[in-house]
Amino acid sequence: MRSILVIGIGAGDPNYMTVGAIAALNRAEVILLPDKGEEKSGLNAVRSLILGRFATRPHRVASFAVPERRVSDTAYAESIEDWRARLEAAHAEVIARELPEGGTGAFLVWGDPAIYDGTIGLLYRLKARLDLAVEVFPGISAVQSLAARHGIALNGTGEAIHITTGRRLAAEGLVHDNTVVMLDSRDAYLGCDPGARIWWGAYLGTPDEILISGTIGEVGTRIAEMRAAARARHGWIMDTYLIRRG
Ligand SMILES: C[S@@+](CC[C@H](N)C(=O)[O-])C[C@H]1O[C@@H](n2cnc3c(N)ncnc32)[C@H](O)[C@@H]1O
Repeated sequence: MRSILVIGIGAGDPNYMTVGAIAALNRAEVILLPDKGEEKSGLNAVRSLILGRFATRPHRVASFAVPERRVSDTAYAESIEDWRARLEAAHAEVIARELPEGGTGAFLVWGDPAIYDGTIGLLYRLKARLDLAVEVFPGISAVQSLAARHGIALNGTGEAIHITTGRRLAAEGLVHDNTVVMLDSRDAYLGCDPGARIWWGAYLGTPDEILISGTIGEVGTRIAEMRAAARARHGWIMDTYLIRRG
C-alpha cells in the first residue's frame, strides 16, 4: 500500500501552515507537485517557499504536468468528464512511477483541501485502481483569511454561512444571510442589492493583499475597477468576498 498525504498549506501566507501540516510534510519522501501552469500566479512560488522553510527531512519533488480544463459553456458537462479522466490518468501515472510500495507521498493543496479543491475526490476515485491510504490535513482557507484580515466574524449570532461561486451567485441571486463567494470571474456582486454589505479581499495573505468593505452601492464599482486594474497588473487575480444581506 502507498500512503498519500493531502496537506492544506494555507491560502497565501506561509505562516498559515499548521503544526500538523508541517509534521505531515516531514513524513513524505516525495512531494507530488501538479503543474497547472500556475507559474505566473505565484502559487508555485509559495509552495517552494513552504518547502524551503518547513521541510527538514530530505525529500524529492516530482513535478508533473496536468491537463488543462477545456471549458466551453455549451459543452460544460462533457468537458468536465473528459478532463477528469485525463487528470486521474496523470495522477495515477505519477503515483505509480514516483512512489514505491509502502512509500509516502504528499500533495500540497492551496488553502484547505475541503474547499473548492478536487484533490480529495480525485484520490478517492483513484483508490479503486491503486492501493492507496489517504490522509487529509486541514489548512487555513481564503475564507478564514478574509474574515481575519477584515477582523470580522462570517455570521451574526445563530445565522447560517453559505459558501458559493461567482457563477452560482449570478444565477441564484443573494438568498442567504451571509454568503462567501469564491471563483468569481464575472463581478457577480454587482448584481446584488446595493444595500447589502460586502467585505472583499484579493491576494489575501500575500504582500499584494487588497481589502475593501462597504455597501455594494458604495464600493461595488470601486471593487470592479480595482479587480480589473490588479488583474491587468499581475496577469491573474484571486479574490474572495463575504456579502451580508442588508
Ligand atoms: C480553486 S479555489 C481554492 C480554494 C482553497 N482550497 C481555499 O481553501 O482557499 C480558488 C479560489 O479560492 C479563493 N482564493 C484562494 N486563495 C486566495 C487568496 N490568497 N486571496 C483571495 N482569494 C483566494 C479565490 O476565490 C479563488 O478563486
